[in-house]
Amino acid sequence: MKKKNIILCGFMGCGKSTVGALLAKKTGMSFIDMDSYIEKKEQKTISSIFEEHGEEYFRALEREAAKELAEKNGLVIAAGGGTLVYQANVDTLKASGKIVLLDISVETVAKRLENDTTRPLLNRPDKEEAMRELYNRRLPLYRAAADIVVDADNSPMQVCMDIMKDI
Ligand code: S3P
Repeated sequence: MKKKNIILCGFMGCGKSTVGALLAKKTGMSFIDMDSYIEKKEQKTISSIFEEHGEEYFRALEREAAKELAEKNGLVIAAGGGTLVYQANVDTLKASGKIVLLDISVETVAKRLENDTTRPLLNRPDKEEAMRELYNRRLPLYRAAADIVVDADNSPMQVCMDIMKDI
């Protein structure tokens, strides 16, 4: 079967949603943000899901969403920052298309997420330290999952163009 979706992966704040929307427009594909997809299905924000049910429950919803979206065609999918850390999701999504890593430096992430309160995993007093630890732990997993890697410290339009050159 021909691979048909483009899956954007990378750390929180790397621009998956912004670049994904741009890329969909340029390629004529449809854009789906996995977190928004889950929020719509559950009628709850990601923060409330974490707060009310915990991370494990969210990961089960994420796994389910990955399976559902992998069944579809012609999508640019912005995965969540944790989605491609799990091999089951890598297998599911890789079978449905190309995985693109938006590779961002930890310094840019720190700047972009400095005042953000929407990421439950980073809502803690030692936010920057936790972020760096998570980033270092995840980067090798993102790299292993990716078919294509682009530099996401550049502008969203540049990142979008770089992806289009490679796909
Ligand atoms: C998460 C990233 C978030 C969201 C949830 C968990 C993660 O998505 O899925 O808060 O584990 O890195 P974004 O990368 O879109 O912020």
